[in-house]
This record gives sequence, C-alpha cells and structure tokens, in this order.
Amino acid sequence: MTGFSRRIEEISISGIREVFEAAGEDAINLGLGQPDFPTPEHARRAAVDAVEAGRADGYTSNKGTRALREAIAAKHDRDNGFAVDPEDVIATAGGSEALHVALEAHVDPGEEVLVPDPGFVSYDALTRLAGGTPVPVKLREDLTLPPEAVEEAITEDTAAFVVNSPANPTGAVGSEADMREFARIADEHDVLCLSDEVYERITFGRDHHSPLTDAESDNVVVVNACSKTYSMTGWRLGWVTGSTRRVERMLRAHQYVQACASAPAQYAATAALSGPQDVVDEMVTAFERRRDVLLDGLADMGLETPTPQGAFYAMPRVPEGWVEETIDRGVVVVPGEAFGAGGAGHARISYAAGIETLKEALEVMGAATDAVR
Ligand SMILES: Cc1ncc(COP(=O)(O)O)c(C=O)c1O
Repeated sequence: MTGFSRRIEEISISGIREVFEAAGEDAINLGLGQPDFPTPEHARRAAVDAVEAGRADGYTSNKGTRALREAIAAKHDRDNGFAVDPEDVIATAGGSEALHVALEAHVDPGEEVLVPDPGFVSYDALTRLAGGTPVPVKLREDLTLPPEAVEEAITEDTAAFVVNSPANPTGAVGSEADMREFARIADEHDVLCLSDEVYERITFGRDHHSPLTDAESDNVVVVNACSKTYSMTGWRLGWVTGSTRRVERMLRAHQYVQACASAPAQYAATAALSGPQDVVDEMVTAFERRRDVLLDGLADMGLETPTPQGAFYAMPRVPEGWVEETIDRGVVVVPGEAFGAGGAGHARISYAAGIETLKEALEVMGAATDAVR
C-alpha cells in the first residue's frame, strides 16, 4: 500500500503561508522575510554575462566553483576574522539547503536538536526530516537565546543546538559573551553548534560575533547565504562551512539532493561577495530607520517591543486577538506561535517595507489595538 513516511507526516506547510493566503489582495504585507531592495546590479550582471558566454550551462563542482568558494573564504576573513579553506565550503541552494545537509549529516533518528523558541520554522521541520526530535529552548525577556538554558537542556541524546543571531523572528542579536559561551558549550559537551548567520551583516550599532571564532574543537558549523545580505532570496544561493571531516559528510547529502548550486546564481554570488559592499551598508541604514519608525509607532500604541538589533523583524507583545484583527483590517503580520509555543502572545512584523508603507500599516495596527483592548 502506498503511504507517506512518518517523517513527512510530522511536518506541515509553514503557518506563515496560511497567513498570506488569509489576507486580501490589497493587504499591506509585513509578513515577508525578504528585503525589498533589488539585487546589486554588478551581481545580476555577472550572472547575465556568464549565461551569455555559455559559462553557466553545465554542472559546477559539487561544492561550487572554486572562485565562489574563494570569495566566501575571503568574506569570512574580512567580516568574521576567521580563516576558512575554500575546500571546506559547500555552496548550497540557499541557507535552507545548508541547514538541511548540516542536520542530515549530524543527526541520527531519535537524537535531539535544541532549537530557539520562538525560532525560524525550518529548524523544527528539518530536524524531524532527519528523524530527530526538536527540543525548544525558551528565550530571555529580551528574546536572546540564553546559553545557560541551552547547556541545561543538553542530554546524552543531544546531537546539536541551533544558534541564530541576528535572529528570525525576533531581530535579537546575541552578545559576544553569549556567542563565546555557545562555543564553549559545543567544545565541552561535544555537541554540534549549528550557527545560522544569514542575517549576520544586518545589525544596528553592534557587530555579529560568530561562535566559530572561539571554538577550540571543530564542533561549530556555520550556515550563511547571499539571500538577505544582498537581497538575493530568489537566486537560491547559500553555503555551509566547517571542518574538513564535517564538510565531507555534508557533501554526501548535498551531492545526492542537489548535485551543485545553480551555476548562474554562483556567478552572481561571487560578484556580490567580492564586489563593492556599500550596497549592504545602504540597506542596513534604511532598515535601521524603518525599525525606529516601527518601534516608535508600536510604543505609541502601548505595545511593548524588545528592541531588535538586527535582521528586519520586530516582535511586540500583543493582546489577545490582535493578529487576527490586524490581518482583518488589511495588514499581514505573523502570529508568534507560528515560530513555536514560546512565540505565543507576540506577533512578528517585518519591516522590509518602505517608511510610507510602514506608517500606513501603523495606522491600521493602532486601530486594531484600540479594537481589541
Ligand atoms: C534564520 C533563517 N535562516 C535561514 C533562512 C533561509 O534562507 P534562504 O532563503 O537562503 O534559504 C531564513 C529565511 O528566511 C532565515 O530566516
């Protein structure tokens, strides 16, 4: 009899999509997890040139072109201050595939993966696809992930814990001290720290610090992508890096599920990573301004919002019925519980939208707040 695997029956289509479908056509969409900027012109051009010259027609090496992996290694040297051998990088179909191959390579059926709660929806789903059990870890009041809670939750069945800073859905950025603690925990407990750094460049007034910088063992694997930093979500280009033995295991999964990342996207990513970076700074400056407009508006409504220090999301505490009322009035926001039980009582608002749109949305949110109070 044909049936479906237990693993697939354990996961469902993300709650975020349901929210989009519930919203009217003219709704203002503050539910989206992608920047509203164009991909930098030089990145687009590099892909077009490669396509026109016939350089993007075939498979690349499974790990990706050498030029892309060198650009990724140079990026880590420039931005993160750690050395990566280009041989220890796999270019993937977005950060999503990087997370998938990392979990496939490190999690056995029945093993546990500690995930931030609320946290990005894929951690729970991809852990289940690998046959593992996600174990939610509660965040602090300021929505950062407490290393002490991660350490307490470790059992002999723990294969990995996920760190995501700057974070989706909270916008929280872990302190350098916390990130050092995650490295220590990975070392001392001999568990994998899967560090999802896709929002790494989008921080306001503080820098991201990767746990890979401090780990003494090879127990940290880093996932990153061009998706958010260069507004390239549609190109599907991310990567994963770690020690040679870990990359070799992840490559086994990548080779069979993906073969290689899309060749045109690899050309675009190489140009994005090694070209001028002022486009990123401009985008981050715009996000910071938008964040301030949004936070002021939410404060005026009396909604308490931990100040996001990165990414482009805010997560106010909202009264019962607020999300439904806001969506009914034409502004799409995502209920916090779409990101785990710990998200209850919150909403995720993306400010990847222009200031005028945000102001318009704030009017609607204000009316929704009055209606449910
Ligand atoms: C925290 C986090 N990690 C990974 C991803 C996946 O990104 P990509 O579009 O590169 O697959 C996302 C996308 O929203 C994300 O928010």
